[in-house]
Amino acid sequence: MSTQPQPAPAAATPVRRITAPQIGARKGGEPIVSLTSYHSHTAAIVDKFADFILVGDSLGMVMHGMDSTVGVPLDLMIMHGKAVVRGTKRALIVVDMPFGSYEESPNVAFRNAAKIMKETGCGAVKLEGGSRMAETIHFLTQRGIPVMAHTGLTPQSSHVLGGFKTQGRNEDSWPAHEEDARAVDEAGAFAVVLEGMVEPLAAKITKQIAIPTIGIGASVDCDGQILVLEDMLGLNPWTPKFVKVYGQLGPMIEQAVSDYAAEVKSRTFPGPEQTYR
Ligand code: KIV
Repeated sequence: MSTQPQPAPAAATPVRRITAPQIGARKGGEPIVSLTSYHSHTAAIVDKFADFILVGDSLGMVMHGMDSTVGVPLDLMIMHGKAVVRGTKRALIVVDMPFGSYEESPNVAFRNAAKIMKETGCGAVKLEGGSRMAETIHFLTQRGIPVMAHTGLTPQSSHVLGGFKTQGRNEDSWPAHEEDARAVDEAGAFAVVLEGMVEPLAAKITKQIAIPTIGIGASVDCDGQILVLEDMLGLNPWTPKFVKVYGQLGPMIEQAVSDYAAEVKSRTFPGPEQTYR
């Protein structure tokens, strides 16, 4: 893509997005399709197929080379959120609240969630935590902010959890996970991401609560699925077990860049087609 102005689309299609309540109403129905996206042009492709697009804080790792999501600032989420909203017109856009932007109090969470929604134009926010965040989720939803919750493996708490560990391997831990899911449901979340969780626990939770569960490494029993786009496109050098790689973009990019470099060196690029005469 050049940096020159692009022609405007001939007839702009009106923006009519899927809403958070519509996602909430999909409990037990056709599986909900979702992916992350952090970039306007890839978001436009994802928009054709996804019910919601998450601007997740995993962008710190897959776009900005961070070791974890803990260092992701609010402004970075807003910048990528704006790009994704600009590139899409159909899917609900959900933007992650980064670590430190919501845990302190419901008031702080409201201020930052409102900033995200006003500045990006997204339709909902996501935050990590179950029972401990129930009061905040209730506070936000009562004040006009649709909230997607995120329980199970919560990467922002990886320092407390002792790393990125699959949750629920020990059945003694199940009641706490079930309680987390119930709490966010009762607090008013419209859906909950279940991350890194053994299949029987994810299946049990999905049956127990009234809102859709969106699985990432939490089995096919969830009401929907989400993957990080860069992971499923083969752009991440490391592939976690729960990721299926649907496209090998890494090797394709490498080949294209290597062809370009060779053609520049041999002076075969730019050719006559790319030259203004
Ligand atoms: O940030 C992210 O990519 C996420 C997904 C793992 C759900 O929160």
